[in-house]
Amino acid sequence: FLIGPGKLQELAILALQEAATVIIFDQELNPSQIRAITDQIELKVIDRTQLILDIFAQRAKSREGKLQVELAQLKYLLPRLILKNTAMSRLTGGIGGRGPGETKLEINRRRARDRIAQLERELLAVRKHRKQQRAQRQKKGLAVVSIIGYTNAGKSTLFNYITESGVYAADQLFATLDPTLRRLELENVGPVVLADTVGFIAHLPHKLVEAFKATLEETLNADLLLHVIDAASAEREDNIYQVQEVLQEIGADQIPLLEVYNKLDLLEQAPRIDRNADGAPERVWLSAATGDGVELLLQAVSELVGQDMVNEALELAPDQGSLRAALYRLGAVESEQYTDDGNAHLQVRLPRADWNRLMKKGPDPLW
Ligand code: GTP
Repeated sequence: FLIGPGKLQELAILALQEAATVIIFDQELNPSQIRAITDQIELKVIDRTQLILDIFAQRAKSREGKLQVELAQLKYLLPRLILKNTAMSRLTGGIGGRGPGETKLEINRRRARDRIAQLERELLAVRKHRKQQRAQRQKKGLAVVSIIGYTNAGKSTLFNYITESGVYAADQLFATLDPTLRRLELENVGPVVLADTVGFIAHLPHKLVEAFKATLEETLNADLLLHVIDAASAEREDNIYQVQEVLQEIGADQIPLLEVYNKLDLLEQAPRIDRNADGAPERVWLSAATGDGVELLLQAVSELVGQDMVNEALELAPDQGSLRAALYRLGAVESEQYTDDGNAHLQVRLPRADWNRLMKKGPDPLW
């Protein structure tokens, strides 16, 4: 039963008292456990994987998403296909009317297997098409930025705000099952592809990670991951950890990542960028709902995608020779003129990351 017989009886009584129609176990049950429990309690019994699959099925929008969900459901159901009573009637005769023929159970299983094979063929075709599209993007040199994060963190809201594309965003779990791609013009960078992806959840059954691999493939091919975090959630730290776990599991933990602390409006703080010791953006605090701080995010993305250039006019005093030398070393100086007081007027152009490192105040500046 997974739980003791006494506990099961308690559960049965509680279910009666509460007039429950379904019992959901927050973990995976094997086929014989489901059978044993349903034999004892005459109620529908669902486990965690089935529940997740049901939610996925409701949310799937693209053809690929629907195919993936149906496939995962069938694969999960196949070993669980059982006849309620054990009277195995022979439905169809064997060849020439002899032999045992097939039982209803066998027919159901065979149909499920046929459908699985068909779905796998269709998925293969859809994936091939997607691969071609990706190759085209790469040929055009488009960087891919994937929005990832725990379910309900606000990924679709952010995606919408940025692209104004009307992606479905709702206060429901898994509102996004299918990755949605949009082309986006970034100042100083040019066009990038922004991808909205499926929400991660804790203890995602491994089978499902496999089943949704195509959805997550977009994540694997990203040049930059935006990890959206519900900054106001009580489970914030655990959710961050869960996402990191899944990233590791799918082999995406080496991709550059920017943390996006969302729902800042609920914390009543001002948007900001946190930078690491090298001056590179590490974390952006914003509100996707109000849009406050989204421009900081785009700024940070520009920097991280690596082509964000800074144009500045500088006036350097004679004792700032080492900064001047560093600028020359970086090939950043476009013109230079001296004024009467001996100051140098420089027009410089350099990657923002270098600029930040140069401007960093501290005991040992780069120059
Ligand atoms: P899944 O698709 O389930 O993974 O969710 P998601 O991460 O795409 O979240 P979604 O954008 O659907 O947002 C979830 C809920 O959070 C919605 O009710 C949003 O309105 C709300 N929300 C998103 N961003 C903010 C924000 O900045 N502030 C506040 N207060 N609510 C937000």
